[in-house]
Amino acid sequence: MKIITGIEEMRSESTRQRAAGRTVALVPTMGALHDGHRSLIRKARELADRVVVSVFVNPIQFGAGEDLAAYPADVHGDRDLCEAEGVAVFFQPSGAGMYQAGHSTYVAEEDLSRGLCGKSRPGHFRGVTTVVAKLFNIVLPDLAVFGRKDAQQARVIERMVRDLNFPVRIVVAPTVREPDGLAMSSRNAYLSAGERRRAACLHEALNAAKGLYARGVRETDALKGKMLELLAGQPAAEVEYVEIVDYESLKPVSEIRAPALIALCVRFGRARLIDNTVLGTSD
Ligand code: PAJ
Repeated sequence: MKIITGIEEMRSESTRQRAAGRTVALVPTMGALHDGHRSLIRKARELADRVVVSVFVNPIQFGAGEDLAAYPADVHGDRDLCEAEGVAVFFQPSGAGMYQAGHSTYVAEEDLSRGLCGKSRPGHFRGVTTVVAKLFNIVLPDLAVFGRKDAQQARVIERMVRDLNFPVRIVVAPTVREPDGLAMSSRNAYLSAGERRRAACLHEALNAAKGLYARGVRETDALKGKMLELLAGQPAAEVEYVEIVDYESLKPVSEIRAPALIALCVRFGRARLIDNTVLGTSD
């Protein structure tokens, strides 16, 4: 596995591989890699000859008072995981390399990024689209793999790629969960033992909604009501939002008639957890 930190070196590596006829897949991450990231790497390996994993804690997607300084890091563990998964290039650019002094250009998606997490995290998705656009220009991938765990992020990236004609295929891979259903996340490390036990309630709430949907309930107020009732049973859980939106537009719907995303965000202490499920597809 090559470890690359330089931007020009990364670009020439990909240029060489592509000139030799090999396809390149990118898995962008912020490190502290877990089995969720591992599943994206495996998907990327299935789909391309060479897999590049980027590890970069992108400062511009964190708001004031968010967890940038505390964000978990485990460079050695990350490299070992990538090596074991047959990753071709571990790309770890420096902050100064990615954002030169006086950086003043951003990529902003202005519709899908407004709702859900965009409401409480102004500027977050602008930071994500900017860094992902930069990574596409540096790594020159044929395809990039993202997780459904961050469903809004995946939709925003798909829209950016469509609107700005990036020659990159976006693949969205399923959410990987702990045995009790909690979606894996680097931020789960913030949970105390007690919070960790109770955090399975996000998944339980999603399952309850799925159960009602399977019994024919289509009104989103009924589904949301059931979820909120379940979450209210966990006093430590502070609900930021529970929303049911059209999967394409990410706009709230009152009845599920087409693929819909049920998304929720719940805080436990200092951990802000998100999860979701898609209804109305075979997904
Ligand atoms: P990060 O949180 O490290 O996540 C990197 C990728 O892993 C994202 O596509 C995310 O959706 C996926 N992922 C995380 N947990 C997952 C799980 N339990 N199952 C499946 N996939 C999972 O998302 C980011 O970093 C950043 O915003 C980034 C896109 C790298 C831009 O900075």
